[in-house]
Amino acid sequence: MGLLDGKKALITGARKGIGRGIALTLANEGADVGVNDIVDDEVSQRAAELIAKRGVKGTFHPGDVSTVAGINAVIDSFLEEHGQIDILVNNAIFPDQSRSLFDTDEAFWDRMMDLSLKGYFFAAQRAAKEMIARGNGGRIVCLSSVHAYDAMENWTAYGTAKAGLRRMVKGLAVDLSGHNITANCIAPGAISNKLPEGDDDVIDGPPHNAALLGSSVPAAKGGLPSDIANAVLYLTSDLGQYVNGETILVDGGMIAARKMGD
Ligand SMILES: NC(=O)c1ccc[n+]([C@@H]2O[C@H](COP(=O)([O-])OP(=O)(O)OC[C@H]3O[C@@H](n4cnc5c(N)ncnc54)[C@H](O)[C@@H]3O)[C@@H](O)[C@H]2O)c1
Repeated sequence: MGLLDGKKALITGARKGIGRGIALTLANEGADVGVNDIVDDEVSQRAAELIAKRGVKGTFHPGDVSTVAGINAVIDSFLEEHGQIDILVNNAIFPDQSRSLFDTDEAFWDRMMDLSLKGYFFAAQRAAKEMIARGNGGRIVCLSSVHAYDAMENWTAYGTAKAGLRRMVKGLAVDLSGHNITANCIAPGAISNKLPEGDDDVIDGPPHNAALLGSSVPAAKGGLPSDIANAVLYLTSDLGQYVNGETILVDGGMIAARKMGD
C-alpha cells in the first residue's frame, strides 16, 4: 500500500532535477505519473520508463507550459492517457535564472513571468477545472524558492515570480474553497539538480559540494531532489490534507540564518 495508490499526477519540467525526483517519489507511493518537459529526448523518455518500472503508469507529455495553448495541449495529452488529474506539480523552470538589474530586459522579464507566474497559474486553473468536474478533490503544488523570501543580488525577476507564487496559492486555496482541493508551495534552498551518474534508477544525482555553500546553510550541506520530493509527497497525500494556501521552506535553514526573513 502506497500513500498515493490510484492517484494520477502530472509534474511539469520533470525530465531532470527536482521534478524528476518528485515524479519518481510519487510513483514509489503508487501514483501513476505523467512527466512533462519542453525537452523531448531520451532522458525525458527514460524518466517515464523509470516510473513504469515501479509498477505504475509512466507517460511523457512534451510541451511548453509557459503558454496557455501549450498547457492545454499537455493536460489534454495527460487526460487522454490517465483519464483524470488528481495532482498537479508546477515545477518547470528554464536555466540561467539569475540576471543583474540592468541586464534584465523585457524579453527576459516576460520569459520569467510567462513560465513561472502565468504558466503556473493557468496550469493550476485548468487542473482545478478538471478536478472539480470529477468531484474527488485534488492537490496543486507550486515550486517557489528561497528567493521569494530574501533579496539576493541579481535575482530580482526570478524572486518576484517566486514570491508571486506564495500569494497565488493563497488565492487558489480561497477560490477553490469547498472543492477539497489544496494549493501550496514548496520553497527549496540550494538543491543539486544533476542527473544521477551510473545507476539511473535512483532519485538523487550527485550532491552539491558542501564547501561551496560556505556557512550560508545551517544544515552545512546542500539539499537533494528527494528532500523536496518528500515535502511534495506530504502535501499531495492524506498526510498534508489540512495544509492549504501555505509555503513550506525546505532549505536546510538558509532563510533562518539570514537576517529577519519572514
Ligand atoms: N535547484 C534548486 O536549487 C532550486 C532552488 C529553489 C527553487 N527551485 C525551483 O524548483 C524547480 C525545479 O528546479 P530544478 O533546479 O530541478 O530545475 P532543472 O533545471 O533541473 O529542471 C527544470 C526542467 O524544466 C524544463 N523546462 C524549462 N522550460 C520549460 C517549459 N517552458 N515547459 C516545460 N518544461 C520546461 C527544463 O527542460 C528542465 O528539464 C523550479 O521551479 C525552480 O525554480 C530550485
